Amino acid sequence: MDIIFATHNQNKLQEVQALMPSHINLISLDDLGLKDDIPETAETIAGNAIQKVEFLRMRYEQPVFADDTGLIVDALDGEPGVYSARYAGPHKSSEDNMNLLLEKLTDNNNRQARFVTAIALDLNRHQILFEGVCEGRISKEKSGEKGFGYDPIFVPDGYDLTFAQMTMSEKGKISHRAKALRKLIDYLKEAE
Ligand code: IMP
Repeated sequence: MDIIFATHNQNKLQEVQALMPSHINLISLDDLGLKDDIPETAETIAGNAIQKVEFLRMRYEQPVFADDTGLIVDALDGEPGVYSARYAGPHKSSEDNMNLLLEKLTDNNNRQARFVTAIALDLNRHQILFEGVCEGRISKEKSGEKGFGYDPIFVPDGYDLTFAQMTMSEKGKISHRAKALRKLIDYLKEAE
């Protein structure tokens, strides 16, 4: 089955392709030649995933899914949340976002946080939403080179390593995205 995955992020594409059964072939936005970013202006993580799927569904007659992720930090009343990608400003890097978060948590011992992923699927004009959560904490400093985004400062519960210190397959066993994706995959298997 060919299915459009609404992302330009090569890291994410690799993570997701590695978890998909081999008969599901992902078509990325780059494969479609779509250079622009898709609007993500909703007020919730799930709302953004739905917005992206609806944008693509209007243009392509194919199954499509989109994900949206936010990092929720308890001590910051849920920040950066839906603003995770642009926490430090619209044109800032992941490095800037992490620095701002670490700065805001300076001297704060409540480091509890979670990643939340929503995946919206449009299959035969029918929409469905899947969610995955990974509980953890924000480390005091950045560690590790792997992964992307906030990975160097997120330590999942039960581990002493950040996501950026784990291999893609270790992260793929426990991550928010993997959990949401497993639900999507189970649904696609049933739908076949
Ligand atoms: P998006 O919704 O997937 O574009 O992600 C929103 C923000 O969260 C971006 O800044 C990403 O870099 C970050 N992010 C998404 N997924 C992950 C992850 O698995 N690890 C670390 N950061 C992530």
